[in-house]
Amino acid sequence: MRIVPSGEILGARIEDVDLSAPLTDGEFRTVLRALGEHGVLCFPDQHIDVAAFAAFGRRFGTLEINVANMFHEPDFPEVMILSNMTRDGKPIGLGDAGQGWHTDMSYSREIALANILHAQRVPHRDGAPLGDTQFRNMHAAYDTLPQDLKRSLEGRTATHDFAKFWDMMRARPGSARPPLTEEQRRRKPPVSQPIFRIHPITGRRVLYANPGYTMRIDGMPQDESDAILDFLFAHQAEDRFLYAHHWTENDLLIWDNIGTTHNAVADYRADEPRYMRRVQVMATLDYAAMAA
Ligand code: SIN
Repeated sequence: MRIVPSGEILGARIEDVDLSAPLTDGEFRTVLRALGEHGVLCFPDQHIDVAAFAAFGRRFGTLEINVANMFHEPDFPEVMILSNMTRDGKPIGLGDAGQGWHTDMSYSREIALANILHAQRVPHRDGAPLGDTQFRNMHAAYDTLPQDLKRSLEGRTATHDFAKFWDMMRARPGSARPPLTEEQRRRKPPVSQPIFRIHPITGRRVLYANPGYTMRIDGMPQDESDAILDFLFAHQAEDRFLYAHHWTENDLLIWDNIGTTHNAVADYRADEPRYMRRVQVMATLDYAAMAA
């Protein structure tokens, strides 16, 4: 197994490994450390079935069954389908997943360690891939915040709400998302999260606030909270923190959901098919001990 860093603010390729067989304990530790260090890891050319994909994900922690779980692989409710493709005129996957900057599961009391996507179909135009996934580095975003802001926000929390992103997507023209049901809202009520948290693999502080789900800073007047969140979102949006993954079919991509935010670029048309399998890995294990 060879780790080839991208040389950018995030990203590495993990080459010479076949994920149809389980990683050895040593390989797993190497991958976990690389996830902390590089944030986004691409395993190219992986020809694995749904069961092997889910088993790879489970190695990192419990797999979430999405609260809105509209589309998943048969017999695998934990493996969601993200796609713009249709069958008999009906969508076969969630067509607008992740199209806005966010961090998966920041709205959940138990947060997520990682997302894993396996590219089945990648849209192309004029020979170039479309539908990039973009990332921002939240270790670097924290490190470069003004010292006085770091001091004043240390120990504070912010409220995150699943409904914020869902309702934003629903408000877009032509959205196929139904309103959230009372039951779905009840299962994912707003939660408070630390604005800065210690990353379980790197042991470093990260900025854990994202435009997709973060609503307000707790215990602060609304206008002050809005101004600080605007500042934090503008700061993390600076180009110096940005990395984009350009997809190739059969890429398997795992990214750190604590140390990065991400955005799915919707630059392809309905007749340019994209099909991704996705699992969301909850942070249910002692990663500090596992990476040591
Ligand atoms: C996601 O937010 O998990 C989806 C990202 C993508 O489809 O590129």
